[in-house]
Amino acid sequence: MPEHRLCPLVDLLEGQSKGFTIRPDSRYADILIVYTQQRIHAYRNRCPHTGAPMEWEPDRFLDYTSTMIQCGIHGALFRIEDGYCVSGPCVRQSLHRVTVIERGGWLIALDPLGRDDG
Ligand code: FES
Repeated sequence: MPEHRLCPLVDLLEGQSKGFTIRPDSRYADILIVYTQQRIHAYRNRCPHTGAPMEWEPDRFLDYTSTMIQCGIHGALFRIEDGYCVSGPCVRQSLHRVTVIERGGWLIALDPLGRDDG
């Protein structure tokens, strides 16, 4: 299973989101991370609505309350804890979760792109 080192754990800041590029030719982040309440949540950066990347700006994936992931294109809102869409054009669909582990002070994504690397 391919692994990808994302960042040192100390780079994650409580209540913030961060994007990571896995593919060398990516113009946008491939993975988004949200670190909140001492937990790390990782998803593919593809909105279920159109498949587009969701950040407003680099590393900005959260709504103005920092309690939901929000797509920057049409505003769909996703729960941070499970990626489930509660509002917007892709309601009741979910973001694709990425498994991450902590090892040696680093955050590592396991099989970050899965079978769908497009
Ligand atoms: S592309 Fe995300 S809500 Fe439309």
